[in-house]
Amino acid sequence: MQILKSSAELALWKAAQPDCAFVPTMGNLHQGHISLVEQARLAGLPVLASIFVNPLQFGAGEDFERYPRTFEADCEKLQAAGCAAVFAPALEDMYPQPQTYFVEPPAMASELCGQFRPGHFRGMLTVVLKLFNLVEPRAALFGKKDYQQLALIRGMVEQLNLPIEIRAGGTVRAEDGLALSSRNGYLSDAERREAPRLYQNLKLIADALALGRRDFEELEVQALDALYRHGWKVDYVSIRRPDLSLPAETDANFVVLGAAWLGRTRLIDNVEAGRDQDSGARIQGLCFAP
Ligand code: PAJ
Repeated sequence: MQILKSSAELALWKAAQPDCAFVPTMGNLHQGHISLVEQARLAGLPVLASIFVNPLQFGAGEDFERYPRTFEADCEKLQAAGCAAVFAPALEDMYPQPQTYFVEPPAMASELCGQFRPGHFRGMLTVVLKLFNLVEPRAALFGKKDYQQLALIRGMVEQLNLPIEIRAGGTVRAEDGLALSSRNGYLSDAERREAPRLYQNLKLIADALALGRRDFEELEVQALDALYRHGWKVDYVSIRRPDLSLPAETDANFVVLGAAWLGRTRLIDNVEAGRDQDSGARIQGLCFAP
């Protein structure tokens, strides 16, 4: 596996490999990221992963400085997963001058997570567009774990006519249901035991919707109460359509999204419900939901 530490090294690699499937990450890789690499390999193209902790998508007081950086272990995992190259640019390479041009996201980016992380999606879309322009991939893979991020990237690619096929990977979970996340490493032992409750409550709502319940607000409030009672500080629990617009009683497909704090750690998760519901198969201690 080639390690490309600058956009100049990336350009040299691309001269020999013009087409690739791309998996952008911020590092501290776990099986969720690796499952995207494995899915990318199915495209039959060399897989390029990137590792870059993007300051533009972290707000003041968020965890940019303490975000876990584990480059060597990450490279070992990517190599074992069959990655052809990893692009890990320095901060000055991605931002040689202060960034003053941005991708302006639509109103939906101010809802859900956007309501609690102003500027986050603008910074995320801007770096994803920069990475797309540098890498010029044929396909790029993103996890449904970050459902709103995925929806915004799909919209950007469509409306800005980017010639890239976006593929989605299902959320990889620990055996107790907790979605794998680099931020899980911040949790104390007691918090880690409590953490699956977010998924459990989103899943309860998804199951109720699948059984025909349509009292959206009542379902959301029940989940909020259950989390509050166990010491969580909830940002939101929200039932949406798959395109993240507000649902109607006549809808058949939903996604139930939530974000909540356990101590100093903010966790997000979501569960699809309805006709296209997650299958939730479990293998070797991990649960893959396509
Ligand atoms: P990061 O949080 O490192 O995630 C990289 C990719 O892995 C994203 O597409 C994310 O949805 C996916 N992912 C994370 N946890 C997952 C899980 N448990 N199961 C499946 N996929 C999972 O998302 C980002 O980085 C950044 O915002 C980025 C897109 C790289 C832009 O900076």
